[in-house]
Amino acid sequence: MIQIDAEKCIGCGTCAADCPFASIKIIEGKASPGKWCLECGHCTAVCQQKAVTLLGDYDPLEIIEYDPKKFRIEPENLLNFVKFRRSVRQFTDEPVSDADIAKIMEMGRYTQTGANMQGLRYIILTTETLREITPIALKTLAELDIAQVDKKTMRVPYQYLDFQVTWKLWYQVYQKNKRDLLFHGAPHALLIVSRACNEVDGCFNIGHLELMINTLGLGACLMGFGTFAFAMSEELKKIIGLKDGESVIFSLVFGHPKVEYLRTVNRKKVRYEKI
Ligand SMILES: Cc1cc2nc3c(=O)[nH]c(=O)nc-3n(C[C@H](O)[C@H](O)[C@H](O)COP(=O)(O)O)c2cc1C
Repeated sequence: MIQIDAEKCIGCGTCAADCPFASIKIIEGKASPGKWCLECGHCTAVCQQKAVTLLGDYDPLEIIEYDPKKFRIEPENLLNFVKFRRSVRQFTDEPVSDADIAKIMEMGRYTQTGANMQGLRYIILTTETLREITPIALKTLAELDIAQVDKKTMRVPYQYLDFQVTWKLWYQVYQKNKRDLLFHGAPHALLIVSRACNEVDGCFNIGHLELMINTLGLGACLMGFGTFAFAMSEELKKIIGLKDGESVIFSLVFGHPKVEYLRTVNRKKVRYEKI
């Protein structure tokens, strides 16, 4: 819900025009909030008079004024940043600082969610927890009874089940020489947790988090198989303290890279049509 300062409001209608639910009306020359509010904050962001405040669990002091000189990203830079980004699977043991983790979390907080639900939470696994989890996750995947997996309620693509031969091999490698081909021996994992069926929010969010991680000079690798292990193991859910109805909807591993990529890679030609 929003509050409109009638002293400041000049009834220009800018907020009403940008309200996704057309909920704000101009009544007797002043903006007036309606019943429906996504709490998206567009009205706060467009108001020239700074007359609109979002009520509830929000801090008006964190609002930043837009400055194109500071905040614009050149398209070529963004494109090249994405072209040079690689999935990192070799890490040093150095833990990521709390300051960097806070920046990654801030990226997650500001990534948009469907209907502005903001229903995600995060778990960051320390090296100690990740090392505890690794053999359990590998064993879960290697020994999964595929016939018992309910594909309808699975939260990740059931095509992952085709990889069981690989997972068996990974578990053998781990048992033999402790080489971790699942979490790549990373110092941290980041899990996105949610109650609702909002996988799309989770996938979108993880993409932004990965970009932020790269911006900080760190490296990350998305974890489809790791996410699947959390879906399949009650033991893992217990260790990370999932509450009733919650699930890990996506995850990644991250840390300081022990590899340097000197150039971009090839990709298939883009398929698109204009109709
Ligand atoms: C949805 C998704 C799930 C992934 N899961 C894994 C995974 O479980 N293990 C892994 O090593 N890489 C995983 N990856 C990384 C892909 O293998 C990688 O993005 C792809 O090979 C292209 O390489 P690049 O990211 O360096 O461009 C995943 C990527 C995506 C987008």
